[in-house]
Amino acid sequence: MKTRAAVLRDPAKPFSVEEIDLADPGPGELLVEIAGAGVCHTDLTAREPGTARNALPAVFGHEGSGVIREIGPGVTGFAPGDPVVLSYDSCGRCRQCLSAAPSYCVEAALRNLTGRRSDGGHAGTDAAGLPLGTRWFGQSSFAEYAVATARNAVKVRDDVPLELLGPLGCGVQTGAGTVLLGLGVKAGQNVVIFGAGGVGLSAVMAAVLTGARTVVAVDLHPKRRELALELGATHVVDGADPEVTALVRAATGGAEAAMDTTGVPAVVKAAVESLATGGTCALVGASPAPVTLSPHELRGKKLTYLLEGNAVPQLFIPQLIGHWQAGRFPFDKLIRRYPLDEINQAERDCHTGETVKPILIP
Ligand SMILES: NC(=O)c1ccc[n+]([C@@H]2O[C@H](COP(=O)([O-])OP(=O)(O)OC[C@H]3O[C@@H](n4cnc5c(N)ncnc54)[C@H](O)[C@@H]3O)[C@@H](O)[C@H]2O)c1
Ligand SMILES: [Zn+2]
Ligand SMILES: [Zn+2]
Repeated sequence: MKTRAAVLRDPAKPFSVEEIDLADPGPGELLVEIAGAGVCHTDLTAREPGTARNALPAVFGHEGSGVIREIGPGVTGFAPGDPVVLSYDSCGRCRQCLSAAPSYCVEAALRNLTGRRSDGGHAGTDAAGLPLGTRWFGQSSFAEYAVATARNAVKVRDDVPLELLGPLGCGVQTGAGTVLLGLGVKAGQNVVIFGAGGVGLSAVMAAVLTGARTVVAVDLHPKRRELALELGATHVVDGADPEVTALVRAATGGAEAAMDTTGVPAVVKAAVESLATGGTCALVGASPAPVTLSPHELRGKKLTYLLEGNAVPQLFIPQLIGHWQAGRFPFDKLIRRYPLDEINQAERDCHTGETVKPILIP
């Protein structure tokens, strides 16, 4: 079918909203009319050297929400008219998928980062008939319609504003899941989050939800530090302060849990240094730069890199919606809406720090 979508052809050029042609939903796939799609930093990684560039030209977007309009052959458990959030794709058959760890699926890179179907083929073309990546994270939701796999889709209740829910599919799930599921933060513990963007502020909200004693947010942008305080952080620290580690340690007395969302090697080192002995640091930032740590710096500490907050989307996203409805998880405070046609403005506002989580409305 023909639809409108934001296409990125060249890492140095703006997105262009164009008419594209999507293949019909195949076996195991769904056609979804997109209500809104969050912008996650990962959607912008084709701008930098790395694997996302190989997907070009492509439609990005992996935090879509919308209504199912058609189901492909063999799909069960979904019907046209169902409201869904689209998350990441996984095979459902490998050891990781069977162990409730689908973000570590053996096919994760193929299904999420190539823009192609899992058989390697393209599932969309541009107006000139040339192949286009339309399966970024199995969905490519910067569009009016997207074809996603049923494994991506999470059925949600119909009494919540559907266009706001897309970020639960990646950024919010990653931040909250890292704290709740990955680090397993408990009431009374001390937590520090480096980078207060979409992922980091979701982690802050989750840490507050656990009843952590101190929740410290570190960021370069004063507005993001202010928002962290509004969301319940007990302390904020300017990431540019040369004393950042000392300030975090003074606030926490040594953290049981630390998280880095910046991917900046010096910040990763500061996150590890902020830990108390026995503490764990979780990295989530997509960083091309290696980090050097001496064994001594890791003495009695744990360091890990987590994907999608270790969450099983079909279990975790409905829980987050429940917390939001109960007023305990105000993720909507991160959001600003933009028409899909203003995607380039949304990207600029992410870079200046003006907007934490844009949602593109087709
Ligand atoms: N592992 C996963 O599953 C997963 C999922 C989603 C996103 N990501 C990655 O997580 C990262 C964060 O994503 P996001 O959407 O929150 O991005 P974002 O750009 O909204 O947030 C990053 C924040 O880090 C801050 N920052 C940068 N340098 C800093 C420094 N030196 N000190 C303190 N703060 C600093 C920025 O000001 C910004 O607020 C990205 O790399 C993204 O690709 C990973
Ligand atoms: Zn798998
Ligand atoms: Zn993401």
